[in-house]
Amino acid sequence: MKKIGVLTSGGDAPGMNAAIRSVTRAAIFKGLKVVGIQRGYQGLIEGDMEEMNLSSVGDIIHRGGTILRSARSKEFMTEKGFQKALDVLKIFGVDGLVVIGGDGSFRGAKKLSENDFPTIGIPGTIDNDLGYTDYTIGFDTAVNTVVSAIGNLRDTSSSHGRANIVEVMGRHCGDIALYAGLAGGAENIIIPEMDFNMDEICKKLISGRNRGKLHSIIIVAEGVGKPYDIADEIQERTDIETRVTIMGHLQRGGTPTAQDRVLASRLGSKSVELLIEGEKGRVVGIRENRIIDQEIEEALSVEKEIDKDMYELTKILSI
Ligand code: F6P
Repeated sequence: MKKIGVLTSGGDAPGMNAAIRSVTRAAIFKGLKVVGIQRGYQGLIEGDMEEMNLSSVGDIIHRGGTILRSARSKEFMTEKGFQKALDVLKIFGVDGLVVIGGDGSFRGAKKLSENDFPTIGIPGTIDNDLGYTDYTIGFDTAVNTVVSAIGNLRDTSSSHGRANIVEVMGRHCGDIALYAGLAGGAENIIIPEMDFNMDEICKKLISGRNRGKLHSIIIVAEGVGKPYDIADEIQERTDIETRVTIMGHLQRGGTPTAQDRVLASRLGSKSVELLIEGEKGRVVGIRENRIIDQEIEEALSVEKEIDKDMYELTKILSI
């Protein structure tokens, strides 16, 4: 292993830059050359890459987004595109690859490894939807962004005596909603993993109002959908004026939290270690604060489970 490549793929996540920095510096420290590949697998197919040095990754640990940019490449999914990617890696003399992204990006990493190209995956997605790792890079920052927004909404909701529906991202996973809801003291959290009961939600809002509560925050994970329908129903049944805020891509940007930077730094250097040891087709992650690695297929087959105790706790604390 003399030269490795690094790319970011899929939806970007705060902390990806810290991971790129870690991969690059750990590799240079071990005497390897590093190329930064632009726009994920699409840039790989197009040979859009440049050698990185220590200063290429200077002053980026605190920056959101990804200096390598990102893409969701349809071409890479085709056999022709995939073969092109393999050819480009050969032409540029790249011996191993680190892919920073979510499950879709990991499937690409798996295919490369199955074709004898050593590839390691680092979990970078705000969704925290990968079952094999406790946390993914970007999740903590996204949660903090949502918590800060909840604080703002609480102010204006209190002034007007309103309820606020806040829709957060996460695809099919309710983790952003659950963590942000607990940290933000939301009255109700609606996530795809758990059934919800509108009677219960409305009853809680009415009893809150009757004891003088001036605001109510209801977090809805995007996997549940229909935030405006939920708002209409609440307003109709409780007579509490209700507004909707879609967090959208606001929660994908911003300076990464210390926790995301630390995680990214630990995972980046571990992925380089694995390549040097001759490993391929593995992903890195964190479990009980220990850095782990696992075969990609096996890791992807671990079902992501919502923390039911935490969900129950949110109900107790928002009584
Ligand atoms: O996977 C990250 C994520 O932000 C999801 O939470 C969301 O569903 C999706 O990406 C949005 O994708 P795009 O940025 O392509 O609109």
